[in-house]
Amino acid sequence: MKRGNVIFLAIFFVLTPFIAIGAEMGKFQYEDFKKPTKCRTCHKGIYQEWQQSLMSQSFTHHWDDVEYFKLALPHALKLDKVAGVKGGCVACHGPLAFLTGDIPPKPPAAGTRVNEGVSCEICHSITGSTEKEPFNFSFVIEPGKVKFGPRSDGQSSFHDVKYSKFIRSSELCATCHDEQSPYGAWVKETYREWKAGPYAKEGIRCQDCHMYRAPGKSARGGKLRTDMAHHAFHGAHFPNKMAGAVDIALYADANQITPDSSIKVRTELFNGKVGHSIPSGSSEERMLWLEMVAIDAKGKTYYLALDKKGFQGEDYTISNAKALAYQAMGEIMGMKEFQGVKRDGDIPDGVRIFRRPFLDPKGRMTICQWYTAENTLVDYRIGPQETKIETYSWNIPKDISPGPVTIKAILYYSLVPSSVGEFLQLMPSEYAPINVNTATLTIQGAK
Ligand code: HEC
Ligand code: HEC
Ligand code: HEC
Ligand code: HEC
Ligand code: HEC
Repeated sequence: MKRGNVIFLAIFFVLTPFIAIGAEMGKFQYEDFKKPTKCRTCHKGIYQEWQQSLMSQSFTHHWDDVEYFKLALPHALKLDKVAGVKGGCVACHGPLAFLTGDIPPKPPAAGTRVNEGVSCEICHSITGSTEKEPFNFSFVIEPGKVKFGPRSDGQSSFHDVKYSKFIRSSELCATCHDEQSPYGAWVKETYREWKAGPYAKEGIRCQDCHMYRAPGKSARGGKLRTDMAHHAFHGAHFPNKMAGAVDIALYADANQITPDSSIKVRTELFNGKVGHSIPSGSSEERMLWLEMVAIDAKGKTYYLALDKKGFQGEDYTISNAKALAYQAMGEIMGMKEFQGVKRDGDIPDGVRIFRRPFLDPKGRMTICQWYTAENTLVDYRIGPQETKIETYSWNIPKDISPGPVTIKAILYYSLVPSSVGEFLQLMPSEYAPINVNTATLTIQGAK
């Protein structure tokens, strides 16, 4: 890139608050960063783990590709206020493009080095942040001979090693995991949720839950460690990480079915495993929801009715097949008369959704986190170590089948509303419901 362009871009970005906090754009050359395949020659195990994780796919992953090239980039070229996301998205998702000033980058299909995503060299060259509580890619990065790591007693012929307190801290993760929109809304707050919660107080870091430790060697020719840090980074894309993340307990106010009467069921949902809210991260599109049914002895299924609580913004937390949202997508794509798609995808009507709605400057719900002006109206997610209690009523039919009834609670999670997934033609695996947990309670049949 020509020097003139770099200066032009630098001035351009400094003008937008979104970008001003971030790492310096265009300061480096591609050659300053080694390829992950180079690291693989000695760190084979870690390389394999990283390759399976979303870190290696942060730019190439289909949904990221679609959101940047179909929505964010065209929007940035059209609307001044969000112009900064042209480089901003890439600073976290394809840091090499940002650091070398290759903005906008070529799409993943072009096979450039941007596809390396959040690579070994990115994390292991970060030395700190310009912010005490980092966000918006505010990392300070010094690529070179020294690899910053959690120890300092390892020896390598290829590079030097240096202990870094920052690499060992949750603040490293915060540089990319917390994000403020150009409108000043906190649109990703995983670090801030963690920081305000019980785990930070106990000194349990992001790494402790997302980079499990086990005995082993991190490198060919390296030392045998009792606590080698693995690079799995399992999150919401790994059903094994989601399974049982929230505990469910069920109670009913009767232990026997009486036809033509009403019973109350109480469901307690305990987030005992997640170090931040669930859902977290990309909250603009994540939903956790609880389906509550009664199944009679013949297998007939009845939905239980949720008792409303009456808090501000509760409507956003109860599924409604008639509600449409995400109109900004159509606007950006130049579709006239676009009414939006179903706000809650295919979730059955009347079901409690644990979510945090994001609103665009026109007050409509949005999945465009960069176009979010307000998201503090209601936050009905489950915080770390928090328990949410929901109550339900069921009017037992007069003619219910004799025999026991099973009350069943099923907790699902989805990354993106299915309606949005279908509209943008994402891969079905991206929006299929994931089963987080199931619980049952049996109530005896009438005498
Ligand atoms: C020639 C082999 C070799 C190559 C290539 C190599 N490393 Fe290493 N690396 C090692 C060895 C050996 C250790 C020491 C492991 C030990 O004993 O704990 C090490 C340690 C590390 C550490 C841990 C530092 C600490 O805190 O102790 C990091 C981080 C690291 N390497 C990153 C990288 C990255 C990033 C690349 C690719 C750019 C890379 N390495 C390429 C051999 C290599
Ligand atoms: C998202 C950031 C990130 C990426 C990407 C990343 N690492 Fe790490 N790595 C870390 C952190 C953080 C630690 C220290 C974990 C801790 O403190 O528990 C670490 C630890 C290590 C260690 C030392 C392990 C030990 O316990 O001795 C090596 C070696 C290493 N990384 C190499 C690599 C290689 C090679 C790659 C690419 C294939 C890579 N890392 C990608 C963040 C990252
Ligand atoms: C340079 C930016 C950057 C840093 C630093 C970083 N991440 Fe990430 N991380 C990302 C991006 C981008 C994604 C989203 C990838 C996607 O969905 O395509 C992500 C995704 C994740 C996920 C979700 C994976 C899933 O299955 O859904 C987890 C978990 C995660 N990171 C943990 C960490 C931890 C722990 C640290 C600190 C040790 C860290 N990250 C540091 C950029 C970063
Ligand atoms: C006590 C363990 C624990 C700690 C500490 C923890 N996490 Fe998590 N994290 C989890 C579990 C379990 C999940 C899977 C459930 C979910 O998606 O919420 C998860 C999910 C995630 C996701 C995917 C969220 C989503 O809904 O898309 C990201 C991103 C993530 N963690 C990053 C981090 C970062 C960054 C930190 C530190 C600031 C951190 N985690 C600290 C346990 C933890
Ligand atoms: C401050 C760093 C940062 C910025 C800036 C950023 N992202 Fe992300 N993005 C992340 C992280 C971290 C995650 C993972 C969160 C999670 O797992 O819930 C993520 C998740 C996503 C996802 C969801 C992926 C999935 O698998 O569900 C998409 C799509 C995405 N980003 C696109 C974008 C676009 C487009 C922009 C620019 C408008 C952008 N991001 C700006 C860090 C960032």
